Amino acid sequence: MIELCVALDMPSKTQNLKLVYQLKGLDIWLKVGLRAFVRDGTEFIKDIKNIDNNFKIFLDLKLYDIPNTMASTALELAKLDIDMFNIHASSGKIAMKQVMDVLKDIKNRPKIIAVTALTSFDNKLFEDIYHQNIQTKAKQFAIQAYEAGLDGVVCSVFESKTIKNTTNDKFMTVTPGIRPFDEVSNDQFRVGNIKAAKDEMVDMIVVGRPIYEDKNPPEKTREILNNISKKTREII
Ligand code: C5P
Repeated sequence: MIELCVALDMPSKTQNLKLVYQLKGLDIWLKVGLRAFVRDGTEFIKDIKNIDNNFKIFLDLKLYDIPNTMASTALELAKLDIDMFNIHASSGKIAMKQVMDVLKDIKNRPKIIAVTALTSFDNKLFEDIYHQNIQTKAKQFAIQAYEAGLDGVVCSVFESKTIKNTTNDKFMTVTPGIRPFDEVSNDQFRVGNIKAAKDEMVDMIVVGRPIYEDKNPPEKTREILNNISKKTREII
């Protein structure tokens, strides 16, 4: 069954928390990104949990640094009340292994996933940096993340099945760039809808603008949940 993660990317804390209130009671994850975390800090995570403690939180900070800094930061992140965070696969296998190693004795540690290729990259932009096409490199990054012991990867919908086939069914694929019912793609290049996510065996779809820019975000969220066959918890 696919999980839905709603990106809290609104311009202010007040707007983000209003959205959280509107979504209270729904069986979803919430994604706290760089902007919100830099501005609103760890208090923001507490605010979300105060609204509904059942929301799972994905902290999307995309760590990229030397192994020692990544590992010590991971240890700090694991102290927060979050359920998942991410690091860049391009930070290398040693850094990824060191992150997993430092967390190995922590009970109920958050899931750690690796960013393969940003969904805003087209092939040309990607090749300018990585000198390989997206599919080949994303698969290579995923294998390295899998071998380093991570729980999954962030990838586009179109790489999910290949990644699962070359790693393991249980290796999570988390896919942004989702336009559930073919809404406008904005700055995302490799976008896919719910049907594509199902066909590609995706574990979690991340949806931002199609929800928070909709005239009725809770209604839109329920519609998505119904389409990914999730039962909607009743609004408290
Ligand atoms: O509004 P939209 O649905 O495009 O939001 C996608 C979210 O997923 C944004 O918060 C963006 O930062 C994040 N993301 C992404 N591509 C990645 C990793 C995260 O778009 N590879």
